[in-house]
Amino acid sequence: MLKFPKNFYWGTATSAYQVEGNIKNDWSQAGKKYDAGIACDHYNKYEQDFELAKQMNNNAHRFSIEWARIEPKPGEFSQKEIDHYKNVINSLKEKNIEPFVTLYHWTLPTWFSEKGHWLKKESIKYFERFAIKIMKEYKDTVKFWITINEPNIYSSHSFISGDWPPFERSFFKAQQVLENLAAAHKKIYKAGKEINKNNKIGIAKNNNHFKGIIKFFSGYYWNHQFLQKIKNHQDFIGLNYYFSSSLLNFLGNKKEVTDLNWEIYPKGIYHVLKDLKKYKKPIYITENGLADAKDKKRSSFITNHLKWTHKAIKDKIDVRGYFYWSLLDNFEWDKGFKPRFGLIQVDYKTLKRKPRPSSKLYAQICKGNALKTKQK
Ligand code: BGC
Repeated sequence: MLKFPKNFYWGTATSAYQVEGNIKNDWSQAGKKYDAGIACDHYNKYEQDFELAKQMNNNAHRFSIEWARIEPKPGEFSQKEIDHYKNVINSLKEKNIEPFVTLYHWTLPTWFSEKGHWLKKESIKYFERFAIKIMKEYKDTVKFWITINEPNIYSSHSFISGDWPPFERSFFKAQQVLENLAAAHKKIYKAGKEINKNNKIGIAKNNNHFKGIIKFFSGYYWNHQFLQKIKNHQDFIGLNYYFSSSLLNFLGNKKEVTDLNWEIYPKGIYHVLKDLKKYKKPIYITENGLADAKDKKRSSFITNHLKWTHKAIKDKIDVRGYFYWSLLDNFEWDKGFKPRFGLIQVDYKTLKRKPRPSSKLYAQICKGNALKTKQK
């Protein structure tokens, strides 16, 4: 039996655009492929979804607040939407589920992108204004804040490969975006501490485990550059871990893969966690999961990643929580609805939810705060 530390947070994660439905933002405006439509209608069904999280014995949940809903026009805040997220937060609190709130999970109000997106210096003050508003509104109920989700994934898709809005292709612009995101984070960190000194503020950083020769080129740029920029402005590190990368993988030499052909490499989480030790901050695994429509690999995926997480904890890495990605099947960005990441299956015709078998295993783990070593 592998016991996890006392008060460990067990949860799942989602993001607004991927699950809520009916959002008008820079993605929905970018064409059919980028429009998530009604998605899972989580906006109206959050109560039922959190009930399912409760049945999995979760004591934490990570979700994001959609900026485009809260501030549909510059400087004009929607009371209706502020109240909506208040209800969302209260619904979690009533179930003894700790909210971890992401302020920016990649989608933006259209006015923000029209004003020059993250490329302009003013972007910093716009994001800061929104973040301060939110942190003040929910200051009595939310303690854990994630300002930005995965700055590197975002900047590389949106500004280097150009397959996500605003479809730019410039390494230079991507770098500028990272600078502005880091500056905004630092300002929000300071403001958030003034709003409530007990606030815990960080980012969600996707780090890969790099093997072989590419380790030297990519390790710093991908895993550490952004963390270095904000290192004195974070109370914790949110780690999103999905896979390891090597030249051999790139050439197609992968052992076991997910439905998205991502290599499953549980030991990588151990390396990546150890690699974060130098920042001397508590770590929450804010995402870890796989696309597996048949649910054939999900249970062993979770078990094996948790085994390596446990080993990292034994080796004195201060890991305090684990959030499986995702609670529900959802809109997987440019890949649409096909990839199935959910512990709960969603039928997109009827919007009915159905827990997958792996959710039973996750429920047991969360309940016992432990992993049975023979657990498959
Ligand atoms: C993102 C999620 C995404 C998941 C699976 C992470 O990079 O934060 O929004 O759905 O990976 O691709």
